[in-house]
Amino acid sequence: MAPFLTLDDVDVSHKTVLVRADLNLPMQDGCVTDSTRAQRLLPTLKALKERQAKIILLSHFGRPKGQRSEAESLKHLLPALTKSFGQPVLFANDCIGVAAESAVRTLHPGEILLLENLRFHADEEKNDAVFAKALASLGDLYVNDAFSCSHRAHASVVAITQFLPAVAGRGMQAELEALASILNNPKRPLMAIVAGSKVSTKLTLLRNLVQKVDHLVVGGGMANTFLSALGFPIGHSLCETEMMDTARLILKEASASGCEVILPQDVAVTLDLKAKTPRRVVPVSDVQAYDKIVDIGEETVADINAKLSGCASVVWNGPVGVFEVPPFDVGSVALAKCIADQTVKGNLISVAGGGDTLAALAHAGYVDRFSYTSTAGGAFLEWLEGKELPGVKALGICESRS
Ligand code: 3PG
Repeated sequence: MAPFLTLDDVDVSHKTVLVRADLNLPMQDGCVTDSTRAQRLLPTLKALKERQAKIILLSHFGRPKGQRSEAESLKHLLPALTKSFGQPVLFANDCIGVAAESAVRTLHPGEILLLENLRFHADEEKNDAVFAKALASLGDLYVNDAFSCSHRAHASVVAITQFLPAVAGRGMQAELEALASILNNPKRPLMAIVAGSKVSTKLTLLRNLVQKVDHLVVGGGMANTFLSALGFPIGHSLCETEMMDTARLILKEASASGCEVILPQDVAVTLDLKAKTPRRVVPVSDVQAYDKIVDIGEETVADINAKLSGCASVVWNGPVGVFEVPPFDVGSVALAKCIADQTVKGNLISVAGGGDTLAALAHAGYVDRFSYTSTAGGAFLEWLEGKELPGVKALGICESRS
């Protein structure tokens, strides 16, 4: 049984239900470019509609810092939400007060009302109890379906749970179950693939992972710092020289805890990071002073794939190369394919998360073939770091995970 209450534990029929969603959707020129986060709400909306609940969606958008801003109004999302949900979405131009109250009064069972951006009120980010109480007064029950916002101790995520019965939505439940299955109680051997530009931003995460996983692949720009710390030439690649001692410490901690760290043994290098530049792959010992490392090489891919075939689980955060600039997408695409193939064959439980990672999987065409993909950015990283997320704790999940 889940260590938190879900929609199965409460009677929502004909109730007015406040759903904390993450509608912080990517937009360009006034149009939503990716509705995945909205689509992830569908199971919760279905469960509520089946029981004739009145649905109120709460969300932030952007970081307006307590000021009303036309560009950050949630009203711009209405066409995309109507399309994703397959029904019209009503809108109130404030999330508390008269505008919200009168819109809620006229709401019918099964209808969906979106309230204006929570962050137009500075009290949202202050986790203010009075603001949370005003939000709570609009409904009978609170559902958190926004794992991706649960690292924020904000009023609509934490304080509101003091005033209403609070449960996890279907999306939140699926996310917590997927994440628990990969780090709390994983099928082993377990591999983590962590990449990104800087060791400094993922330091806590790396130190937590070496205590938990059997194989840790380090890729992307942060691998250069490790390679340089081990004495390999890295040309003028991205490197945090001040983190080299830390990189050595992580390698030492990994070795003490029996975690194998897999660093690139060959890399794709370029003089100039431009699309369609020829892909030149060299052993890590042969990187020249004028080279810039931009991807892992084919031998490294083959090595990781061979290790993966002996693994039962994998968790992935961060593309291993500059996938946005082909041909430096080759390493990320090849790893995505291998993980997807093993997952589809039933040999591997695979979880990937983070905006760039999902963009790389979408680019490779394998998002749907992973066991679980998380749309959370910061929350996914904090969870991998072993931190307790305030929004998850507020749902009554007390067990220690780190
Ligand atoms: C996200 O996009 O990761 C979430 O919506 C959280 O947004 P925030 O980092 O502005 O709190």
